[in-house]
Amino acid sequence: MRIDVLTLFPELIEPALRAGVLGRALENGVMAVSMVNPRDFARDRHRTVDDAPYGGGAGMVMKCEPLMAAAESLIGRNSLEHIVLLSPRGRRLDQALVREMASWPDMVLICARYEGVDERISEHLVTHEVSIGDYVLSGGETAALVVIEAVSRMLPGVVGNWESVDTDSFFHGLLGPPQYTRPPVFRGAGVPQALLGGDHAAIQRFRRKEALRITLARRPDLLVNLTEEDLQLLAEIGNETQLHEKENE
Ligand code: 6GU
Repeated sequence: MRIDVLTLFPELIEPALRAGVLGRALENGVMAVSMVNPRDFARDRHRTVDDAPYGGGAGMVMKCEPLMAAAESLIGRNSLEHIVLLSPRGRRLDQALVREMASWPDMVLICARYEGVDERISEHLVTHEVSIGDYVLSGGETAALVVIEAVSRMLPGVVGNWESVDTDSFFHGLLGPPQYTRPPVFRGAGVPQALLGGDHAAIQRFRRKEALRITLARRPDLLVNLTEEDLQLLAEIGNETQLHEKENE
């Protein structure tokens, strides 16, 4: 997959691409990410990329011409079929959107700064608008990193241990269960007995049940597409909780 990032701050993104799983994906060539700075396409002496908004008001707006010229410089190496503007008014990113994006052979990510980009860029250049959540960032660069990292994990060969992506999909849509590693007792706190034995089926069942328990407590909205076994485990959780409440009466 090829990703071209249009940003006024490539130095914010580049170092983060070199570390960890993502760094390896880029080294292996599973993915290629390039920075394009719209400032390099500004034609005036001051290389202006922003201007005051028509109608007045605070802040500045990213100008059309440098962004459009930067995008057009990609003709021939990017299909320009998927041009994504990172913006708080976009579609909220979730794993379904990440999967969809990972199926694209290439995309352009546009990082907005200041009060945003001229609306004509959104209308005539951008094909998708994506937000990473309901909070305010100063620019789209960190959001672009979130998209790149999430998408990279969905590409074959990026996550070395495919089992961990597979495990993610085992808990698909649920929060993951608690995890433990050595020592078996830390400052008096032990590890659940089910995880210490070698009974694989019991371990699977324990993890599924704990994933359901934590999802019920924190994100009940995610409890959809449940199996018969899930409903059985949830019933057990309900009974245990009732029992505890009785004990505390
Ligand atoms: Cl994609 N950009 C900005 N500036 N703020 C955001 C965002 C994006 N997603 C959430 N907040």
